[in-house]
Amino acid sequence: MDSRSFTKKYYIDRRKANTVKWQRGRKLNCLPLWIADMDFKDDERVIEKLKEFMEKGDYGYGNLPEDYYDVFIDWHKRRNNVEYRRDTIRFTKGAVDAMYQVIYALTNKGDSILINTPLYPPFKASIKQCGRKPVEVSMIDNDGYFTFDYKAIERKFKSGRIKMLMLCSPHNPVGRVFKKGELEELFDLCHRYHVLILSDEVHSDIIMPDQEFIPSLALKKYRNEMISLVAASKSFSLAVFSHCHVIIPNRKLLRKFIDYQQKHHSGSVNAFNALPTYYNYIYGEQWLDSLCNVVFENYQYFSKELSPYFEISNLEGSYLIFVNIGEYNKDESASKYLIEKCGLLCNDGESFAKGYNNWVRINLATSMKNIKKAVMALKGIIEQ
Ligand SMILES: Cc1ncc(COP(=O)(O)O)c(C=O)c1O
Repeated sequence: MDSRSFTKKYYIDRRKANTVKWQRGRKLNCLPLWIADMDFKDDERVIEKLKEFMEKGDYGYGNLPEDYYDVFIDWHKRRNNVEYRRDTIRFTKGAVDAMYQVIYALTNKGDSILINTPLYPPFKASIKQCGRKPVEVSMIDNDGYFTFDYKAIERKFKSGRIKMLMLCSPHNPVGRVFKKGELEELFDLCHRYHVLILSDEVHSDIIMPDQEFIPSLALKKYRNEMISLVAASKSFSLAVFSHCHVIIPNRKLLRKFIDYQQKHHSGSVNAFNALPTYYNYIYGEQWLDSLCNVVFENYQYFSKELSPYFEISNLEGSYLIFVNIGEYNKDESASKYLIEKCGLLCNDGESFAKGYNNWVRINLATSMKNIKKAVMALKGIIEQ
């Protein structure tokens, strides 16, 4: 479906909605382009299936659909050429919940965990909250194209105290879909220094044209040292259902994780919350492909209009861009400045790492009309 028809059919006017994104926008009198959810409703067949479930009125303890695992495994095999095994899959209430559980279960108090920044804030927060030490390595910024600093990572690994690397792939906020060679170089280092890898892949379904997403577990050589977080929550905007898969092929690590979940009564899956994932994997593929086109067109437009003035991350995956407004920022933080001057609510660059006070993260999963409004507002600060 072309982007105009998709928007016409699925865009939701959320101005009065009781959602985190739009409620804060209302409070500040801003167009909200922050937080990672979308302004589009789900495919009508998925909504119909959920309605059917509700209308039955049978809300007793439920099971997953019998073919839930087949549908999940088939989706990832077909789209990303990776084979997950049913007996390696566990569930959590969302990806951030999974981060906490994996850290608690598979590392020890006081261990160091490495992250590549700038990065989605809950990575660092979860490490700290669990009593582990975050070790930040800055990515190299080549005019909006961010890459790993392998030398700096190795220097940290050499200290011998790092037990885990938490990877965000595709990367939020810099939008990278890492090449196979980049991942291999990173994982080789982890292997050499006995560092476990936790790969958060919740953005893996939103991939821009000509990009190929490589699931970490598709690189079989490293499977034994790898935990992947996989979800449909970003793909189809299902955040309210809090449903995520944790995949652990290594038997010993899996056993440890299951023991942790049993001790904390956190391993059972909510069958209702799993349904939107299941139905979207069955009915949502065309919807998703159209959505990716909408995001890409929004990105192309934004970039064409504003790249002469701002540094804009290369969007390869996800619907989030990281934007450096540089000298146009006249406040202590760009996000504050844009609220006041443009009526735009974006995520603050400093929340992703220190030193990014001229940067904001912008969510493109909305209508072209909203993106045009945002571009016009941003041009206002250039012309001042
Ligand atoms: C990389 C990444 N991981 C995790 C999450 C949050 O996932 P959940 O809502 O399932 O905890 C987000 C949300 O934006 C994200 O971008």
